[in-house]
Amino acid sequence: MHLLIPAAGSGKRMGVTGNKLLLEILGMPIISWTLKAAQKSVSIEWVGIIGQKCDFPRFENILLSIGFSKKWQLIEGGETRQESVYQGLKSLPNSAKLVLIHDGARCLATPSLFDQCSDSLLVYSALIAAIAVKDTIKIVDAERYIADTPNREQLWAAQTPQGFSVDLLKECHAKAIALGWEVTDDAALFERCQLPVKIIEGEETNLKITTPVDLAIAEYILAQRID
Ligand code: CTP
Ligand code: MG
Repeated sequence: MHLLIPAAGSGKRMGVTGNKLLLEILGMPIISWTLKAAQKSVSIEWVGIIGQKCDFPRFENILLSIGFSKKWQLIEGGETRQESVYQGLKSLPNSAKLVLIHDGARCLATPSLFDQCSDSLLVYSALIAAIAVKDTIKIVDAERYIADTPNREQLWAAQTPQGFSVDLLKECHAKAIALGWEVTDDAALFERCQLPVKIIEGEETNLKITTPVDLAIAEYILAQRID
């Protein structure tokens, strides 16, 4: 399985300058934890890390320091996550027929979640890890009055990994560029192209490091896993 890791963001909501993925949890950069999970996955053979060029030396050092032993490539990202993924897709080797996309910021995903997604991708041409929403979600208007309360039974929170047929995902991205679609995950492009996307049970601990509180929660979870 080929894996693309978008890691070219700037972490505005974290409130730091520079890439939030270089912040440390338990003495290791966030991206190291993500890469260590990919390393332990039995299905992943090749990893493309999509970053900003200025971070490449740090990423190379990190790959060395964790003894990353799978084939890897650094790929220059774009202005948005969507552009970064597209750059990643263009850099996949021709042999890649299926791809998992996993945000560098989701550093708590387990190797077994990567493997479950890889296995399921042999059955479904598009899938995402997701978990059933626990909160009651409100749709809110511009003045912050509630407009609607969707039925929670139909609500799932999207995570990554997200897996796709490479050809189909490339087609969806090309269509998005042609029609000016801007989305926050790859599944949304499939939806717009009216292609089915299967939900795979994700992990409650698979949070995305977005704001400072996520760092504290992630540290707690990772500390429990160290034997
Ligand atoms: N990402 C990317 N290229 C971009 C923007 C984001 O590869 N131009 C990556 C991030 O590095 C992250 C993932 O997409 O691993 C999810 O994005 P997010 O959590 O939003 O990270 P940032 O965009 O860095 O954070 P923020 O939105 O707060 O600025
Ligand atoms: Mg972002």
